[in-house]
Amino acid sequence: MDPRISVIQGDITRQTCDAIVNAANTSLLGGGGVDGAIHRAAGPDLLAECRTLHGCDTGKAKITGGYRLPASYVIHTPGPIWRGGENGEPDLLASCYRSCLALAAEKGCKTVCFPSISTGVYHFPLAQAAAIAIREIRAFLAEHPLPEQVTMVCFDAKTKAAYDKALAER
Ligand code: APR
Repeated sequence: MDPRISVIQGDITRQTCDAIVNAANTSLLGGGGVDGAIHRAAGPDLLAECRTLHGCDTGKAKITGGYRLPASYVIHTPGPIWRGGENGEPDLLASCYRSCLALAAEKGCKTVCFPSISTGVYHFPLAQAAAIAIREIRAFLAEHPLPEQVTMVCFDAKTKAAYDKALAER
């Protein structure tokens, strides 16, 4: 049982957590999917701040304000593009979760929401991505008091089922 980790189905742009995570690309200049949704909901000031960050490496994370979003912060992380699994993709995805959680803790965030990083346009296999995500979140929370609560916000039922399954496994 992980009281500090939950899985819901919903739209991450509507979550009132302290920080939401954006599945970005290395330019940090917006895109489709959840990246597009977050930029649309946050408004143009988010892109303006992102321009000052000069991109972000895959597996790393950078933090901005939330602007018109209910969340106070957006943590942008470029996940790995799936290229068959032999190019370090699993480690890079794990690094995304660790980097985001470290930044959230540094900013004193008590609640953080993640989308399913890399499992859309980047085609990372869903079940494997969910197992990596839950493993990394569990490991981080075991060592840190913050964030107090981490929520996986899944956009569809299939994604939610995969994270529910990963969370049910020890
Ligand atoms: N709330 C929560 N999850 C969402 C939302 C939303 N509003 N919109 C999409 N998602 C889900 C997708 O259904 C998928 O499960 O986010 C997950 C990640 O999918 P993508 O957004 O395609 O992200 P990713 O696979 O990491 O690809 C990143 O896509 O949008 C571009 O600029 C982005 O180049 C980058 C690439």
